[in-house]
Amino acid sequence: MDNLQQERMELPPHTIAEVIVTAEKIDERVNQLVNEMQGHCRTDNLVMIGILRGSFMFVADLVRALYAHDIHPRIDFMTLESYGTGTQSSGNVVIRKDITVDVSGADVVLIDDILDSGRTLAFAQRLLTSKGAKSVKSCVLLDKPETRIAQFAADFVGFSIEDSFVVGYGLDYNSYYRELPYIARIGFPEEV
Ligand code: IMP
Ligand code: MG
Repeated sequence: MDNLQQERMELPPHTIAEVIVTAEKIDERVNQLVNEMQGHCRTDNLVMIGILRGSFMFVADLVRALYAHDIHPRIDFMTLESYGTGTQSSGNVVIRKDITVDVSGADVVLIDDILDSGRTLAFAQRLLTSKGAKSVKSCVLLDKPETRIAQFAADFVGFSIEDSFVVGYGLDYNSYYRELPYIARIGFPEEV
């Protein structure tokens, strides 16, 4: 992407070009995912760790569905950043806020909104292992398998999608659109 294109993408207005996953589909899949995960989650030292900020809505829905299965994890968040602004990853993952729970000996489930290059979750998995976690699994709502750079596969995946920039249900574009209850592709005026 050249500079002019980058600059244009950072200017409003953008529009919702296409809803990719509806709120109803997300709800249905969250419940299925929890069914798939619950065997693994039946441990007396479960810690769910959401990667902020994109995972906040997904974590909230997952832990309430786990509650219905009588599963009561400790919950914490860490803020990791690699994107900066716009739609391009810098490739460099940095910790903006670390967890405060003690994960030594714990079965950890990392939760993120989307698996793209894989760098964020690969980094988080190494970090949690170095903090003494007994096991580290990962759960993502969305997976873009075509764009993987780091060697990483999530243990639990909501939906595999093709490579396009998406927003909603926690995912942002320059901090906008996180509140949408569905996942959508945003369009820029000239392409919609
Ligand atoms: P990765 O490290 O490249 O796998 O990227 C993971 C992070 O990049 C996610 O936690 C998101 O915050 C962000 N990201 C990747 N793809 C998208 C997208 O299509 N929309 C919004 N954020 C994205
Ligand atoms: Mg983001």
